[in-house]
Amino acid sequence: MQQGITLDEFLEQHSSSLPAGSGEGIRGLLADVAKACIELSELVRRGELAGVLGAAGQENVQGEEQKKLDIIANDVFIALTEGTGRLAGLASEEMDHHYPIPEQYSRGQYLLTFDPLDGSSNIDVNGATGTIFSITEHAKDAAPMDADFLQSGRSQVCAGYCLYSSASMLVLTLGNGVAGFTLDDKKAAFVLTHPNMQVPAATNEFAINAAYSEHWQAPVKQYISECVEGESGPIGKAFNMRWAGSMVGDIHRILCRGGIFMYPLDARMIKSGKQGKLRLLYEANPMGMLIEQAGGLAHTGLVPILDIEPDNLHQRVPVIMGSKEEVERVVGYHAS
Ligand code: AHG
Ligand code: MN
Ligand code: MN
Repeated sequence: MQQGITLDEFLEQHSSSLPAGSGEGIRGLLADVAKACIELSELVRRGELAGVLGAAGQENVQGEEQKKLDIIANDVFIALTEGTGRLAGLASEEMDHHYPIPEQYSRGQYLLTFDPLDGSSNIDVNGATGTIFSITEHAKDAAPMDADFLQSGRSQVCAGYCLYSSASMLVLTLGNGVAGFTLDDKKAAFVLTHPNMQVPAATNEFAINAAYSEHWQAPVKQYISECVEGESGPIGKAFNMRWAGSMVGDIHRILCRGGIFMYPLDARMIKSGKQGKLRLLYEANPMGMLIEQAGGLAHTGLVPILDIEPDNLHQRVPVIMGSKEEVERVVGYHAS
């Protein structure tokens, strides 16, 4: 792949990776997504100057406090995609149900499921945040219902994220490898800088919120304690730890240099009837597709994430993903 080409040029060259007949629609849709990411990147970069920091003073359907930027990000995506005729509907973390395309616009054949702003707790401290997106097909003439969004991760046509950090980067898979694009602010365009991103099979870096260790289940407790034992422990390697507080930030690091990311099921979740913290449709599935496409593994500990048949728009799942050897080790501990 040719470094230095724009996202538009890349999509033109790779339209053969897309499902037959979908070329124009998906390319246009990804261009709309990229436009929304550029608009958000500008807002994130201006921060307090743009008046986007702080809480919105309300909660989302999951009982989480919404930040101003969570809502702004959701609105930007809707505004830039609803009238293009490419989408049949949108669903996101910030909306209880899916958003139908208003009647005055024509409906397309794709569904966009997204986390408008990931890592919301980082906004006010100028830390890394991101947008995660997943595109699936809607092969019906009728307007979609919530149930039409409940497709397994294997049905994703493409998936990606935009990281808002020291540079903004859009990382994308069309189901044929993973490519990373850096935002050139001067051109207002994403430029291919990381062709063919790969997750190395071996790693000595883990990412988990260790403050919850007392609540972890036995396999995760065992694995992390073995990592911390270092060279003299059973794994025989000295480990390093990182936790960005934003899945986009952590997964981006893993796509750049390897690692294992975990947000496992824990005793508090079980007590409150939750199956995990991260959401399947707009966090675990798109990130799982990227990680698998880059040669890594994405698992819950019991099943591959992409194999799960969803039953709820905001379904949560345990997440263990990244470098193959370490994910296999943790999955092995679950099996025994
Ligand atoms: P969101 O901001 O979209 O709700 O997602 C936050 C997620 C994820 O990005 C991150 O890995 C995790 O929550 C952080 O959780 P803790 O604050 O429990 O570490
Ligand atoms: Mn998130
Ligand atoms: Mn979010």
